[in-house]
Amino acid sequence: MSIFLNPQRHYCGSLREEHIGQRVTVCGWCARMRDLGGLIFIDLRDREGIVQCIFDEADNKELFDLAFTVRSEYTLKIEGVVRQRSSINDKIPTGRIEILADSLEIYEKADTPPFEISDEATVNDALRLKYRYLDLRRPSLQKSLALRHKIAHVARQYFDEQGFLEIETPMLTKSTPEGARDYLVPSRVHPGEFYALPQSPQQYKQLLMLSGFDRYIQIVRCFRDEDLRADRQPEFTQIDLEMSFVDQEDVMAVNEGFLQRVFKEVLDVDITLPIQRMPYQEAMERFGSDKPDLRFGYEIFDLSETVKSCGFGVFDGALEQGGTVRGIKIEGGAKFSRKEIDSLTEFVKTYRVKGLAWAKVNENGELSSSFAKFLKPETMEALLEKAGAGKGDLVLIVADADTETALNALGMLRCEVARRMDAIPEGVYKLLWVTDFPLFEYGEDDEGKKRLYAKHHPFTAPKDEDLPLFETNPIAMRAKAYDIVLNGTELGGGSIRIHRSDVQQRMFKALGFEEADIQERFGHMIEAFRYGAPPHGGLAYGLDRLCMLMAGAPSIRDVIAFPKVQNASDLMMACPDVVDDKQLDDLSIAVTRMEQSDPEAEQ
Ligand code: AMO
Ligand code: AMP
Repeated sequence: MSIFLNPQRHYCGSLREEHIGQRVTVCGWCARMRDLGGLIFIDLRDREGIVQCIFDEADNKELFDLAFTVRSEYTLKIEGVVRQRSSINDKIPTGRIEILADSLEIYEKADTPPFEISDEATVNDALRLKYRYLDLRRPSLQKSLALRHKIAHVARQYFDEQGFLEIETPMLTKSTPEGARDYLVPSRVHPGEFYALPQSPQQYKQLLMLSGFDRYIQIVRCFRDEDLRADRQPEFTQIDLEMSFVDQEDVMAVNEGFLQRVFKEVLDVDITLPIQRMPYQEAMERFGSDKPDLRFGYEIFDLSETVKSCGFGVFDGALEQGGTVRGIKIEGGAKFSRKEIDSLTEFVKTYRVKGLAWAKVNENGELSSSFAKFLKPETMEALLEKAGAGKGDLVLIVADADTETALNALGMLRCEVARRMDAIPEGVYKLLWVTDFPLFEYGEDDEGKKRLYAKHHPFTAPKDEDLPLFETNPIAMRAKAYDIVLNGTELGGGSIRIHRSDVQQRMFKALGFEEADIQERFGHMIEAFRYGAPPHGGLAYGLDRLCMLMAGAPSIRDVIAFPKVQNASDLMMACPDVVDDKQLDDLSIAVTRMEQSDPEAEQ
């Protein structure tokens, strides 16, 4: 009988005491074979886990001899009766039972794998990724991908119940102005012309709103050619949403419902609604980040007034240049040694500040500090008071001529210190809406000239009360944009869009686009909006990031079946790769520069 239809067939990892006495069939890979003289133990592994199978020489010599030939990773079918184990192993869910085997089929032998397939083995990442199909046999990855499936399933179910329609949008599309770098696809039919892979379906989903699909969802692949980090991949997946006839509150409400539901159904974690909100400016001032991790304190405070003209050159210098002096207090941080503080100094310096000043009060109330000698005792006292520092505490201070730089460095420092202090609680999910983002930010154009860029994208609506600033002080404008943040990671972001053509024109103008430019890049959007545009807005989650955080994984690689490494290559498929001259000819492409890269060297 086929395994699929066989009612006796169970997953190895799903067998429990309730199955004792039943005859079962299990299929999988040999995780381990041990010969204990007269008894052979085979740990059989499938996607649900591992079960122990016993072959007794006294029972069946022929079967025993066959089992003796089994090696790691052989694919097997084993049948037998489930019985209580004599020595219980509480570390695995099947640890109270075992299968006394009466039948064994070896489907296929296996070469010795290049590394041990277990979550415990320490294996070089490049090797794991080259043999990703073997790496994926590990229980933790099997679990992560099942969790990912569950999250996507709940998303589809929830948004379906809320009346959303899943609509697909093209993968071959137009290059996105103003975004990250595009992945381009050459057109054979139109020599010299290119499609771009979508960085997100942003324009399509807005156009769908104009078409009347007032609630859209898509679980969609997005492509961005950016520098990779632990929470970034060149291709990643969004849960992408858009809604018409809504304002910011509506978008937030429907998403709060989703977050509550997904945490409950997937992790059985209760999220209390409403989710906390914080304007961008406040997040920056208090946490030095637009995605603050609220699982621990160490909030930033401003010491500029306290240390004004204090005589310490580092502080005075920063303040005289219009900068700032800010600090964080680490309760119990006085235990940090000089060496540890030096390494924190090296850490903050990587965020473009010149140094780190510190003061600590030991358990006897004695002060030691890198800068006390420059300060009057009363200024030092005022500083400690402002910091709220008492016995056992450490104050870390950054002075910089640029306030944003100082805040960012302290924001990074507070997270680093929290890790070193072991101050980040496990199993806690702190969700936060960050709202009121700036509409614009400064950046450099191709010629290195400073200009305004849209912080989110050029279709993001400004706050109504800030509209007059378009022509007077655009950098001060705030957007109807919001991010959802979880434990210090930006999980998703979205905005209410501009649906009035006059506002869109003012936006483009503020971005410095000429009329011809606007027509060339956005003509199709502008024309579309002339035929009746509903007020609309939406949001997109990074599904990989949501999975990473819910799985408690350190990197989004751990929740993606076939991820790419740091230099954007796929070590398993060995790509990107050169192609035949014929293929290039067909595409009218000539390669002018070849750089040799060694994918395994950089991962
Ligand atoms: P945004 O660019 O903020 O918004 O992207 C939304 C979310 O996608 C995730 N994300 C990534 N995940 C993995 N690797 C990457 N390289 C990567 N880049 C982004 C993040 C992020 O919060 N169209 C808008 C959304 C909207 O306005 O509705 C957009 O794409 O979790
Ligand atoms: P120095 O005068 O170089 O001996 O520095 C005195 C203290 O000020 C040392 O602890 C430095 O690490 C610290 N320091 C230097 N630059 C900065 C800065 N930009 N912000 C805060 N502290 C700094």
